[in-house]
Amino acid sequence: MTGEAPATGAPRIVPVDAAAVLGRCDVLATFTATPGMIDRAYLTPEHAAANAATAGWMEAAGMTARTDEAGNIVGRYAGATPDAPTLLLGSHLDTVPDAGRYDGPLGVMLAIAVVARLAARGERLPVAIEVLGFGDEEGTRFGATLLGSRAVAGTWDPRWWELADADGVSLFDAFHAFGLDPSRIGDAARDPGRIAGYLEAHIEQGPYLEETGRALGLVSAIAGARRFELTLTGKAGHAGGVPMERRRDALAGAARAVLDIERLALELGCVATVGMIDVEPGAANVIPGEARFSLDVRAETDERRDGCWLAIQNALQETCRDRRLALAIEETHSAPAEQPDPRLVAAVREGISAAGDDDPLVLLSKAGHDAMAIGATIPWAMMFIACEGGVSHHPDEAVLEQDVAAAIDAFEAAVLAAARRHA
Ligand code: GLV
Ligand code: MN
Ligand code: MN
Repeated sequence: MTGEAPATGAPRIVPVDAAAVLGRCDVLATFTATPGMIDRAYLTPEHAAANAATAGWMEAAGMTARTDEAGNIVGRYAGATPDAPTLLLGSHLDTVPDAGRYDGPLGVMLAIAVVARLAARGERLPVAIEVLGFGDEEGTRFGATLLGSRAVAGTWDPRWWELADADGVSLFDAFHAFGLDPSRIGDAARDPGRIAGYLEAHIEQGPYLEETGRALGLVSAIAGARRFELTLTGKAGHAGGVPMERRRDALAGAARAVLDIERLALELGCVATVGMIDVEPGAANVIPGEARFSLDVRAETDERRDGCWLAIQNALQETCRDRRLALAIEETHSAPAEQPDPRLVAAVREGISAAGDDDPLVLLSKAGHDAMAIGATIPWAMMFIACEGGVSHHPDEAVLEQDVAAAIDAFEAAVLAAARRHA
């Protein structure tokens, strides 16, 4: 008998089918900073509301729930023995601004559905299971990404405490406001020696599963992204008075930079995105003196990505020379490409096969995932679920209920296979 096993007379486990999983994603979509769109960032009131709802669903699935030292919500389902290692399942609950409802939350809700099945059967595995709803994967509030999963991996960087959001609130102060103690962040880290691995289910965010008529796919690796904040500084001045040939217009320089970035990414087989731009002082009758913009670069290999970034830097320097602008570069995120663990990949393959596809499509993920942060210290594997038109980071994100039903079956079988392989 373990100290964690549910007391006799514990409430009946609520079954969670695909429709219920989708309904829970709909509920999470209502926790937003901006009415009319889904917008849920790390350590915000909406994050707290998403954690609270998720904790309720975890408890209904027979788990104990707690918020960890990084603000992640964690549900635990005890193993067959008190000393059983822990298999982690999860994904993230934060979103980009104007997000869809499945990028992240679907993986957390699927994991809870799998535990609900085990608990309904009263089945205890040779591993304990913990479902993690990570608080920050997207990195939209503080610039650095994957903060929740990096805390769990034990790769937290103390320099992040000074990162500030758009209102100037530091990560350190945001921790306090959320009821967390920054000095305890190390306690969120999991001892890899006690962890059997990490499995994540996530929408594909690309078109290939749908195009090949498949519900599920297997992830071969996750491309590593680098992100930068780039600032071009020229000279502000009167929109009427300063002759065109004498201007040092920072936004015109940034416009050329954006097109160079697009051209170089295409030429070099990478993906590169400028997703944010701010102009100072920002008035219709003032020449922009400063343009600050983001850059996100990814590729199949770190070498290819870094080569693209080098070419982009050269182009930026040329633009700045031609236009008499100053260039400042700050790297806000860097992650190497991550490879999954072959034994866990085999477990996910077995899971997809149990759901009816013996020859699953194997896909490189160019999107980032919590698994890549976890992978610094813990073996992982991932399963993809088809999404309509490959659309993601957009409110039109959609999945088919029948695919979600297949995903629950496959993820359950993958968890059982991983537990068996570990034993
Ligand atoms: C997360 O969605 C990312 O790939 O940036
Ligand atoms: Mn995302
Ligand atoms: Mn995601």
